[in-house]
Amino acid sequence: MADTEELARGYTLANQTQQDTATFLLKKLNITRDMRVLDIGCGPGDITARIAELVGQNGSVVGIDPSKERIAIAINERAKPNISFQEGIAEDLSQFPTNSFDAIFVNSTLHWVQDQPTALKEFGRVLRSGGRLGISGGSGDFVAAHEKIKADILSRNPYSMYPEQSPPKFLKMLELIDLLDMAGFQEREIIRRKIVKSAEGADAMLNWLDTSSSGKTYGGIPLELRPKAREEMKREWDKLTTKDGIQMEMELLVTIAIRT
Ligand SMILES: C[S@@+](CC[C@H](N)C(=O)[O-])C[C@H]1O[C@@H](n2cnc3c(N)ncnc32)[C@H](O)[C@@H]1O
Repeated sequence: MADTEELARGYTLANQTQQDTATFLLKKLNITRDMRVLDIGCGPGDITARIAELVGQNGSVVGIDPSKERIAIAINERAKPNISFQEGIAEDLSQFPTNSFDAIFVNSTLHWVQDQPTALKEFGRVLRSGGRLGISGGSGDFVAAHEKIKADILSRNPYSMYPEQSPPKFLKMLELIDLLDMAGFQEREIIRRKIVKSAEGADAMLNWLDTSSSGKTYGGIPLELRPKAREEMKREWDKLTTKDGIQMEMELLVTIAIRT
């Protein structure tokens, strides 16, 4: 489904979890002054703006994202001489020359990339030799509660009549290793990282899921069925809500790889 301005704008108010995973990844990736960085799936650009601070005025960062709504917010609200944004996808970086970046940053995005082998090869092409690739995202070795609830509700009638066209692909550790090998990233560290996503309650959790996924919480179902599906999902989240709200365990795979 297409993104909307409301979801794109809502994301910047709800993305504390992604901001925290970005902080961890940025530290591991060791972004320093003067570097040229590519931010893949930059969304509305608030983390890209943090990268621009790290690289300083002699460095640069480019953010790309397929959502024109998110890129419009990024262009309008994060403009600086050392930062730029364009619509684009991880699978096709043909607008960038070979060896043109010192680091690539991919936070909470790789699971939405449909052709991951091609994307990894593109990362290898545009990184200079010795350049660093940092990826943080959900692990396919662990099924988080939001995935179980989505699968459960969308398997019910009538939603099961509308299969999702581009479902998220959370990579297992072994699949990620294969992809990195195929793309020539033999030198790497992969960390399995447990985090807890907190939300005040069902509405806050669904708002986070909707804005983070550009509405893909509801798979491929038609717009008019969404309110009913949301109510059914909300009932499942209510069951997991305690006096402290919702505490959802997640597992991330955090990769730092060197382009040899
Ligand atoms: C959860 S958001 C993460 C945004 C940002 N990286 C952050 O950490 O806040 C996922 C982003 O991936 C983008 N995306 C989806 N498919 C993509 C693709 N094929 N290539 C690049 N980005 C993609 C979405 O538009 C969305 O902005």
